Formats: sequence, C-alpha cells, structure tokens
Amino acid sequence: MRPNSRIDARSCCAAALVSLYVALFVQPPVMADENASASREIEAERFHQQVEPMLREHCYPCHSHAAGQMENGLALDWKSGWVEGGDRGPAIVPGKPDDSLVVRAIRHVDPDLKMPEEQLDPAEIETLVEWVRRGAFDDREITPIAKDAQPWWSLKPLASPPIPVVRPAAETGTIETGTVKVDAVTP
Ligand code: HEC
Repeated sequence: MRPNSRIDARSCCAAALVSLYVALFVQPPVMADENASASREIEAERFHQQVEPMLREHCYPCHSHAAGQMENGLALDWKSGWVEGGDRGPAIVPGKPDDSLVVRAIRHVDPDLKMPEEQLDPAEIETLVEWVRRGAFDDREITPIAKDAQPWWSLKPLASPPIPVVRPAAETGTIETGTVKVDAVTP
C-alpha cells in the first residue's frame, strides 16, 4: 500500500503544479485578449457617440468629402485624413494633445489657426482633448464618398433600359429575317 500512496501523493502534487501553471501562465493572455476587445468596444462607443458627432457638426462643413471642402487639404471625416493631415502635416499625434494641430486649432492658442471661428464649449474641447490623449481611436477606415463623385456602377439602382422598337421591314426598306447571315468559309 505504501508505494501506491507515494505515487498518489506525487501525481496529486503534479496535478496541483499543472493547475498552478495554468492559472499563472495560461489564463492571463486570455484575459488580456478579452480586456483588449472590451476596451476597443468602449473606445468605439465613445468615439461614435461623443467625438464623431462633434467633428460632424463643427468641422465637416469645411473638412470633409461630403461637403466637397477640404480646407488646406485636411479631411476630418476619416482616419487617414488626420493621419496624413493637411498642408501643415499630421493633424493629430495620438496620445499627445499638446502636439496635435486639431487640439491647437480648437483651443485657439495659435493666432493663425482658430477653428472653428466660434469656439467650442469647454466640455466639447475636453472631450476632443481626452480622445486624443487616450490614443485617438478611430475606425473610420473606408474612403468617404466625395460630394460630386459618380456612384460606383454596381451601387447604382437597377434601371430598365428602353426596349428597342422593331419596325416592320417595309418601313425600313431592309429585309429582316431574324437570322444572321454568315459567309461560308472555305477551308
Ligand atoms: C468655416 C470653415 C471651417 C470650419 C468649420 C473648420 N475649419 Fe479648419 N480650416 C479652415 C480653413 C480655411 C483652414 C486654412 C486656414 C489657414 O491655414 O490659416 C483650416 C485649417 C485647419 C487646420 C490646419 C490644417 C493644415 O495642415 O494646415 C486644422 C488642424 C483645422 N483646420 C482643424 C479644424 C477643426 C478641428 C475643425 C472643427 C472643430 C475645423 N477645422 C473647422 C476652415 C474651417
């Protein structure tokens, strides 16, 4: 009986070690993944509920494809717009509000760059600053449709083309047989 109980004790110990290992090293990455997707969801919600509507109201009239206006080459209606920026370069430095042109513009700290003319209210400014400070989450990755762009042919609604009128032969002066004449090819 004794050797058996020693084995039991050893396997029990091993099992405990394995579960300790799993608890310490396997679970954290799984939790980290969950945390990452949860915080992505929070950032997305904040962006779409608070930041994007503000940009839409105060900036899109002069900086968007839809308005057909991109003053100084700056579009604020998609992420690449501010990443590349306008004439002065990238408009936002994620995590660094003080170095971001957009923040300088809305704070009216730069005499040449007061955007928009009528200053946003302090709560709106703080929302934008806080968004930049947290990393400027932005999932608007598709090029917006420009104001005068022709819609892609496959996105146009279906239309019935007019049916051609077939006039009787007598009227056109030709013989219409409904068959195609093919010249015989001699080999
Ligand atoms: C009524 C039109 C108008 C509105 C609204 C507007 N802008 Fe502008 N924006 C301009 C014009 C014009 C310029 C070029 C001004 C200059 O360079 O002196 C400009 C330039 C900028 C620039 C500098 C771009 C560069 O690289 O030179 C930034 C940043 C900017 N705007 C941010 C904003 C933000 C943020 C908003 C919204 C809160 C906004 N603007 C709203 C007209 C507008």
